[in-house]
Amino acid sequence: MTNYEYKFRAPARINLIGEHIDYNGGYVLPCCINMYLDAYVNLRIDNKLIFKSISFNNVIETNLDNINYDKKFDWAIYSVGVFYILKKLGYKINKGLEINYVSNIPAGSGLSSSAAILDVTFLLLNKLFNLGISNKDIALYSKMVENEYCNLKSGIMDEAIIALGKKNQCLLLNCSKFEYEYVDINLLDYEFVVLKTNKPRKLIESKYNERVEECNKALDIIKTKYDVKNLCMLKSENLSDIKELLNDELLFKRVNHVVKENERVFEFVKALKNNDYKLIAKLLNESQESLKNDYETTGYHLDSICDSAIYAGAIGARSTGAGFGGCAIALIKKNTFNDFSIKLKEKYYKLTQIYADVYRVEITDGIKEI
Ligand code: GLA
Repeated sequence: MTNYEYKFRAPARINLIGEHIDYNGGYVLPCCINMYLDAYVNLRIDNKLIFKSISFNNVIETNLDNINYDKKFDWAIYSVGVFYILKKLGYKINKGLEINYVSNIPAGSGLSSSAAILDVTFLLLNKLFNLGISNKDIALYSKMVENEYCNLKSGIMDEAIIALGKKNQCLLLNCSKFEYEYVDINLLDYEFVVLKTNKPRKLIESKYNERVEECNKALDIIKTKYDVKNLCMLKSENLSDIKELLNDELLFKRVNHVVKENERVFEFVKALKNNDYKLIAKLLNESQESLKNDYETTGYHLDSICDSAIYAGAIGARSTGAGFGGCAIALIKKNTFNDFSIKLKEKYYKLTQIYADVYRVEITDGIKEI
């Protein structure tokens, strides 16, 4: 890649806890990990936009005047969407570019390769055309691409952590106000590992949007009695009353997850600060149970990999990200990785006839020019 003038980098992310609550106005606790998508860039003298990637054979080509949503943009839909949103917001890009993406973030694995491509594309345009956009706005604009251009009703979590992440810290993010603080992750005796189910995610977008709609439907009913703007303004002591009010088993299960998951985030932060591994593990396991039984976003493979992790010696494990396949995280004792990994793979294979991947990860910075 020596023939490119500029290079920018975006990491992958995991979410420690606070799942499926960013779009419900809750708190989440993600961090960046050391798997990267690098964007190599050259400016052009014409107005062509050329997108390449080692992960895909097809080169996608368009120009600055043809950036309206079109299926032919294929894997580069997110990149073209960045140009579309910048234009809509009144930013001027007056030259074409060639961008070549090189990534070791497994695509479609729930580690947010899509937010990585969005944030890094905003970053490179911001730098090369002096647009003066803050990293916080990069996150907001990336979300606009997903919501308005790609029609995915996702929340702010992934775009925010990839834009704002810091080494060895996670981000306690208030998604309703977009306010945040950093929390140190310096586990002394334990470490987080990433477990990849290798189960291709199917229909994820429609199932994700379905959950968002279920929550909105429940909120509309709840608002007839409670003065709340989002589900995360409710407390667990409201839940028995809400059950009656909703009078709908499925909607109640969704709300039950959301309210309790939001409360778990605060307990988790306290536990992190106190190095209380037992409590961290308990909260991870409770979150997994809730995603499995109430929010129903895990499925056989994620459930199996979490069970296998516990069998192999982890003290806590949960599905991370949107779910429906993808990845989980587990908390294991330091210096047990090799043994853990072998046992987990054996057990998971027995349950699913699929080989899992297990990664040791470091907590890293968010997007940057390198
Ligand atoms: C995906 C979305 C996020 C968030 C998670 C679930 O990663 O992009 O906004 O909703 O799912 O927590």
